[in-house]
Amino acid sequence: MSTHASSIKITTKSIRERKGASKIVSLTAYTKPMAALMDPYVDLIIVGDSTGMVAYGLDSTLPVTLEMMIAHGAAVVRGAQRACVVVDMPFGTYQESKELAFRNCARVLTETGAQAVKLEGGEELVETVEFLVKRGIPVMAHIGLKPQHANVLGGFKAQARDEETTANLVEEAKAFERAGAFTVLIEGVFESAARQVTEALEVPTIGIGASWHCDGQVLVTEDVLGLFSDYTPKFAKQYTNLSKTIAEVFSQFEREVRQGDFPTKDHCFGVKE
Ligand code: KIV
Repeated sequence: MSTHASSIKITTKSIRERKGASKIVSLTAYTKPMAALMDPYVDLIIVGDSTGMVAYGLDSTLPVTLEMMIAHGAAVVRGAQRACVVVDMPFGTYQESKELAFRNCARVLTETGAQAVKLEGGEELVETVEFLVKRGIPVMAHIGLKPQHANVLGGFKAQARDEETTANLVEEAKAFERAGAFTVLIEGVFESAARQVTEALEVPTIGIGASWHCDGQVLVTEDVLGLFSDYTPKFAKQYTNLSKTIAEVFSQFEREVRQGDFPTKDHCFGVKE
């Protein structure tokens, strides 16, 4: 069922209550115009630290700073009338201690107006999530393939490939649920692992490269639109190729300027007829 007609703001509570009722639709955004365009169609907008790779051309998400995430988060919130906005906490801003995590997450929520934060981690992070939620910070936990852990995981490889690692993933997800996470994002895991985690939880799972079993799906918007060609993961579906359209527009602009066809009098001030 489409929710286009409703302009009621979607909250972390209403997302949590969607488990088993209807699929949760999510995309990433880093800017106000993109957030405004997707807002009627999505339930959750994730301001991903993927912005580091997609918008800044960095090799990984690791150099992304809190200031970058706050600037992008605030821009996205200005474009999101109804969708619930979740901002990624960048590497190094929440792992050291739960107190540091609280200070940085509180900054993100107060300075952006977003409703929740997303943290990548495993059992080492459960205590921090509980600390944050008890103090009023809604948390989405990100498990499975965790790009901030790429150096430890040995790259961007699908996770939970066997029974043991799947059982660990299920335990991790359950621990985050007990700690108060309102959703668990599962990235890049084998299909059976995504099914087992989703079945084990009362909170919704949001999948990216985690099969159809999840309660919701998210993709990186630039992958969907064909705007990011450095690397396309297997799980990303490209619905269109905007890069091609944009290149055609730039080429037409170049031609018109060089030929003196732009601007015409329609684009100029004070032209006497
Ligand atoms: O950074 C990102 O874009 C993400 C996606 C999985 C939502 O974490």
